[in-house]
Amino acid sequence: MSSLLLPLAAGSASVTQAEAAPRSDGKSLVAFFSRSGNTRVIAGQLSRALPADLFEIAPATPYPADYFETVERARQERDRGNRPPIKAQLPSTASYATVFLGFPIWGETAPPVIRTFLAVHDLAGKTIIPFITHGGFGLGNSQAVLASHAPQARLMDGFSMQAPQERQTIERVTQWLDTLKVK
Ligand SMILES: Cc1cc2nc3c(=O)[nH]c(=O)nc-3n(C[C@H](O)[C@H](O)[C@H](O)COP(=O)(O)O)c2cc1C
Repeated sequence: MSSLLLPLAAGSASVTQAEAAPRSDGKSLVAFFSRSGNTRVIAGQLSRALPADLFEIAPATPYPADYFETVERARQERDRGNRPPIKAQLPSTASYATVFLGFPIWGETAPPVIRTFLAVHDLAGKTIIPFITHGGFGLGNSQAVLASHAPQARLMDGFSMQAPQERQTIERVTQWLDTLKVK
């Protein structure tokens, strides 16, 4: 069943979940950023189920393998309002009516590369359906960031879920490693 999507009234940030369905008048794109894989799993499922083209958003300069170094770089980029260059850009978004946009919450907002992705692609008139993973602290101001960086898109409520935190995995493994050292 195709669903009728209502364009946003001027100034409103999102439409209701019940209306969050791909538009029937064009292809769908699943664009995502993921560091530890939680969001990547959802992106893969979406692209196979819809079906939709899959595009991975990645920084031109990769984030460090080390989690804590990544947290620090992400914090600096967020605080400075940086838009780090992304590794690749879609040649065109013209054929897509709907963009499923996936990312983890970083520092209580969307990761800096999501701001870059929205800034360098023309998403005017398209429907954006976010899918977001977070470590338990919610969506922060990510919805407002999407609305301000894609002001001419129709922004839907989308999907979010809590997912494992790399930090907790590191802490658990560190504890285990410590027990190995005493033997
Ligand atoms: C740099 C960094 C910052 C994060 N900041 C938050 C945060 O502010 N709130 C939160 O709930 N989770 C935070 N997390 C946890 C991630 O949002 C969560 O683990 C997410 O599912 C990771 O998705 P991914 O595996 O697709 O990278 C942060 C993770 C990283 C690496």
